[in-house]
Amino acid sequence: MTSFLALSAIIVAVYLVHNYRSLARNIAAAKSSGLPIIILPWNVYSMLWLATYPIWLPLLRNLIPSSWRGLWFELLDPEWAYRLGYRPFADIGGDVFLTASPSRIQAFVADAEVITQITTRRNDFPKPLDMYTRLDIYGKNVVSTEGSTWRMHRKLTAPSFGDKNNELVFVESIHHAQSLLELWTGPDGRGNRTVENPAADTMRFALYVISRAGFDVRVVWPHEEKEKLTGAPAGADALLVGATPPPGHKMSYREALSELLENIMWTQVAPPPYLAKSPFKIHRTVGTAVIEWGKYMEELYKAKMEDVASGRNTEGMDLFGSLIKGSGIMGNTSDVSKKEASLQKSDLLGNAFVIMLAGHETTANALHFSLIFLAMHWKSQKRLQEDLDKTLQGKLMKDWTYEEEFPRLFNGMAAAVMNETLRLLQPIINIPKSTAPDRPQPITIGDQHMVIPGGVYISLSCAVHRNPKYWPSESDYRGTDGLNDVDRFRPERWLVDAKDASTSAAENTNFDDEDLRGPSGADTSAHLFKPVKGSYIPFSDGYRSCIGRRFAQVEILAVFAVIFQKYSVELAVDEWASDAEIKKMPKGGKERKEVWQKAADRTDHLLRETMSSIITLQLRDNHIPLRFVRRGEERFVFE
Ligand code: HEM
Ligand SMILES: *[C@@H]1O[C@H](CO)[C@@H](O)[C@H](O)[C@H]1NC(C)=O
Ligand SMILES: *[C@@H]1O[C@H](CO)[C@@H](O)[C@H](O)[C@H]1NC(C)=O
Ligand SMILES: *[C@@H]1O[C@H](CO)[C@@H](O)[C@H](O)[C@H]1NC(C)=O
Repeated sequence: MTSFLALSAIIVAVYLVHNYRSLARNIAAAKSSGLPIIILPWNVYSMLWLATYPIWLPLLRNLIPSSWRGLWFELLDPEWAYRLGYRPFADIGGDVFLTASPSRIQAFVADAEVITQITTRRNDFPKPLDMYTRLDIYGKNVVSTEGSTWRMHRKLTAPSFGDKNNELVFVESIHHAQSLLELWTGPDGRGNRTVENPAADTMRFALYVISRAGFDVRVVWPHEEKEKLTGAPAGADALLVGATPPPGHKMSYREALSELLENIMWTQVAPPPYLAKSPFKIHRTVGTAVIEWGKYMEELYKAKMEDVASGRNTEGMDLFGSLIKGSGIMGNTSDVSKKEASLQKSDLLGNAFVIMLAGHETTANALHFSLIFLAMHWKSQKRLQEDLDKTLQGKLMKDWTYEEEFPRLFNGMAAAVMNETLRLLQPIINIPKSTAPDRPQPITIGDQHMVIPGGVYISLSCAVHRNPKYWPSESDYRGTDGLNDVDRFRPERWLVDAKDASTSAAENTNFDDEDLRGPSGADTSAHLFKPVKGSYIPFSDGYRSCIGRRFAQVEILAVFAVIFQKYSVELAVDEWASDAEIKKMPKGGKERKEVWQKAADRTDHLLRETMSSIITLQLRDNHIPLRFVRRGEERFVFE
């Protein structure tokens, strides 16, 4: 052990000497900013560290005496912003600070005012494009570009996300939510069965919704395949696909899509044609999936072109359809010259892919974590159900419409639950921005003026969501482990009257060109809590804010309505007690509570300790099993 220790010390020493000069230079540059600085021994967001820190951190914790382990040590965990929330900012005593390591300077921002300056000064604070190259598998796109190229892509994609598409999202979400619910509650709808891996199911759900609303492909769920594909015509004119690959394909659309998106990180390692020849099966599968999905997209693209050429299906509710139509690529030369002349097919496929990618995992997570939070907080769940009863007034699901139901859902407890989940578990914990090399940028906090040096990576930190300055709280709340009210799930905080509220989010960005705006509809509800601008950024903000915001909101609220109209969600406790044993324990009694508490403690632990991001924040290698039971048949209700 001692020789290992000595060796490690030597390695660290050599490394430090070697990097000393760059570090000194970075520290000097950081100091010129006037902002607080933390010095780090290496870049915590390098590929190497991201891939291996779970091995090193526990080792270092044992090696380094606790008196040496200050804040710098905590910041070695790339997920610190999620795990520690606002505390590091409080400890440093500033809502903006810099970290300096030998290879980079990084700024972390949890101040709403500064966030707004950054998101509205698009040219001063561009996205660090080197972080986005992996998204270009099929072509350049609206996520991975900047400047005038980005404008072109945003103009191309924005019109697709109109209210017509939102309507389709609403209908499709209700359709697939019913399938999801049936999967979870069983054919008899009793729901007395454990759902082992709800995350996998919500992922599938989001994929299927985006497949239809994005690409006009209605995927059939595996558990419904027999009846749907062989039974009566499904009614929808969308392309219907199941498990069997059509002629000319090696994978079904469903499989290609899931394999591609679930294993996307491998596409960074090597280009798809090489992956397809790798000795590792997983690589080959991904490689094939990339190629297969590309082929499907090509086919869809052709079919859409024909549709439009022949005047069929010109409704264009799906994103891809309106993308193609809006591109002017359809061959009418006069139309083409009106649009960007440089537009190519790869631009369409590139955007199709990135919309698919951006649109499914984030939404699936939001849904998954909402369900877990609700299972942990019965009172909030009950309030959600009561609120839905009032909103829906027993109306049959088939009569729900986007126009009628969505605005009401968006004004009530369902939206509060969604908002609160996205506050605590912002899927993208550090929204990346930067300053260009040699272009330092001034910022102001109140009447203080500071400078972010040039060549800096900036993270808009999810810690702003837990900055007590911005969130209404019950100040007398004292949680365990030093948690404050801002650190806990309390959707009710959104249901307060805000008299002096400022306007929020995307709605009041002054786009210099209205075609860039994207989602229609204001992001505000008249009488509810409106966060200070810049303090609530699950969808980012400003020019580069999420174009699928409304899409996601519609989807999530529709699922809530379908599930909680008739069902409740509970933590599954199979690990600690069988159904028969639970049955014997008195309802609402101490014994049941003890069993439930074990499940709740495990959930708490997993949420706090085992979450990590690849692109978005997720549980890795762990599941939180749930149960969906008919309302009134809950097993774990404790007042
Ligand atoms: C709860 C769900 C969602 C969350 C939390 C979310 C979050 C975000 C965030 C934080 C960004 C900025 C990323 C950056 O700066 O790198 C973004 C951008 C984007 N999102 Fe979403 N998103 C969600 C759903 C969706 C959906 C459903 C779609 C499409 C169907 C979508 C499409 C996009 C696109 C195209 C961009 C790039 C916009 C641009 O740069 O102009 N997102 N999203
Ligand atoms: C669920 O309910 C059905 C019908 O009452 C019953 O036959 C079955 O044993 C129950 N399953 C579980 C896991 O409790
Ligand atoms: C092509 O452009 C011409 C002239 O602007 C127009 O009359 C025609 O309807 C267009 N065709 C299609 C398919 O859009
Ligand atoms: C959810 O957050 C948005 C801001 O993004 C706000 O306009 C809306 O009122 C919130 N919904 C509820 C129910 O508080």
